[in-house]
Amino acid sequence: MSTIKLQLNIGTKTLPNPVGVASGTFGYGSEYEKLIGLEHLGGLYTKAVTLEPRPGNGIPRIIETPSGMLNSIGLANVGLDAFVRTKLPYFKTLKCPVIVNVAGSSADEYLRLVEALEEFDEVWGYEINLSCPNVKKGCLAFGSDPAQVETLTASLRSRTAKPLIIKLTPNVTSIGSIARGAEQGGADAVSCINTLLGMVIDIRKKRPVLQNMTGGLSGPAIRPVGVAAVYNVARSVKIPVIGIGGIMTASDAIEYLLAGASAVQVGTGTFVDPGIPEKILSGIETYMKEEGLADMGSFHRFIT
Ligand SMILES: Cc1cc2nc3c(=O)[nH]c(=O)nc-3n(C[C@H](O)[C@H](O)[C@H](O)COP(=O)(O)O)c2cc1C
Repeated sequence: MSTIKLQLNIGTKTLPNPVGVASGTFGYGSEYEKLIGLEHLGGLYTKAVTLEPRPGNGIPRIIETPSGMLNSIGLANVGLDAFVRTKLPYFKTLKCPVIVNVAGSSADEYLRLVEALEEFDEVWGYEINLSCPNVKKGCLAFGSDPAQVETLTASLRSRTAKPLIIKLTPNVTSIGSIARGAEQGGADAVSCINTLLGMVIDIRKKRPVLQNMTGGLSGPAIRPVGVAAVYNVARSVKIPVIGIGGIMTASDAIEYLLAGASAVQVGTGTFVDPGIPEKILSGIETYMKEEGLADMGSFHRFIT
């Protein structure tokens, strides 16, 4: 009998396994229900929901780049009311934890979203997307100031006892100090990284390819940046770290776990093969058996 423990605690709840799917790359789950067994996911992180519906940015809003892709979707989503009416009922049918990714352009928007979602048991927890510009503070991303992160996290904490995961942007000078702000505000975990700021230019049109000019870089190209961010963040906080960025295989995920992550999310990888999360989970289990690792914490003793 295997003694391997794949579950991990986030706040007062337990994720069944360490492999989830990243926000914005997996819709609301229903899009993938015929392709994979959603019950095997260690967390379904939804597309960001905002207070009002958003059409998102104009096209083109995606372009392939070397070992990655650049997107400027612009948080296109149906908005809170339609999310509650049309998306939440489906989550009730799912056996995996559903973590709602929340985005806003002011602190008040984040708070109103969490308050409105609190009553629904199908919402397992929240992932707070801090890559959004704070319109009231000169459009600087929420996630670029530790004090702002601490204040927002503390306000959110006072409104929910569900798992509160703060998602960090890598487009900052010191990601470790931002993570500490989240921890001090009462976050249960941090996830990192969101996409890296990038630009692609069409040299004949002499124009950026994306209508929004810049976008977020994801995919294998960003994996070493993500692994280094997790290494840094895991040494800055005591709460669990969820690693994201360019994970395509079990070995990619294991790099994150060895760097200090307790769980991972697969994003762009599922565009290539929706079955990747299940393959990664089974690869992690095999590795743990081969290496004599008992639980998700046991990865952390090797790299100090
Ligand atoms: C098309 C697309 C849409 C995304 N939308 C969101 C989003 O709504 N909220 C969020 O927090 N992150 C969003 N992300 C970021 C991913 O969740 C993830 O952090 C990032 O892509 C890095 O992981 P990856 O390299 O495995 O894709 C999006 C990424 C992509 C590619």
